[in-house]
Amino acid sequence: MTNNTIRTRRPRTRPMLAALLMTMVMPAVQAADARQPILLNEEEQGFVLNEMRQYVVSLQQILTALADDDVITVGQAARTMGMQAMSNAPPTLMGKLPMAFRQLGMPTHKAFDEIADAAESGETTPQILSRLGTVLNNCVACHASYRLVPAAQGQ
Ligand code: HEC
Repeated sequence: MTNNTIRTRRPRTRPMLAALLMTMVMPAVQAADARQPILLNEEEQGFVLNEMRQYVVSLQQILTALADDDVITVGQAARTMGMQAMSNAPPTLMGKLPMAFRQLGMPTHKAFDEIADAAESGETTPQILSRLGTVLNNCVACHASYRLVPAAQGQ
């Protein structure tokens, strides 16, 4: 009796599962084009993208140094992407960035300062890796939400 119930249900479950998977996958595909555009001039965009590439440089140095137990280099590499990385930002940039973007951007720089502090105060590698895993959530969240678009000349 129990077996019969399962047999009659199976053919219905599979199409339902397929339909469920479709609804899960399709919004994700559409979301790729739904990132909010931020209009920046060439200098502003150049600054932001350079900063982004510097994040990758810093992460590469931090991870290599962690593997070598080289806490001095971990601290130095993290510090370069702390709040000081914003000091040369074009003065016009901040006003063009949406509030929610800044609320992800600032804590990301702060987190790199905190990683530098943590390395200097002797936190263990697993603790620092945990901090890195947490801060990388900001990278993922912001990239899922925003894209940069060149503004017309003079904007
Ligand atoms: C507050 C938002 C924000 C945060 C936080 C952020 N990014 Fe980005 N990043 C962007 C945007 C916007 C772009 C441009 C995407 C586009 O236009 O398609 C970008 C682009 C990049 C690029 C491409 C650079 C290029 O030259 O094209 C890299 C690499 C990158 N980010 C790495 C990172 C890493 C690593 C982190 C975290 C440590 C990070 N980003 C955190 C917003 C952010």
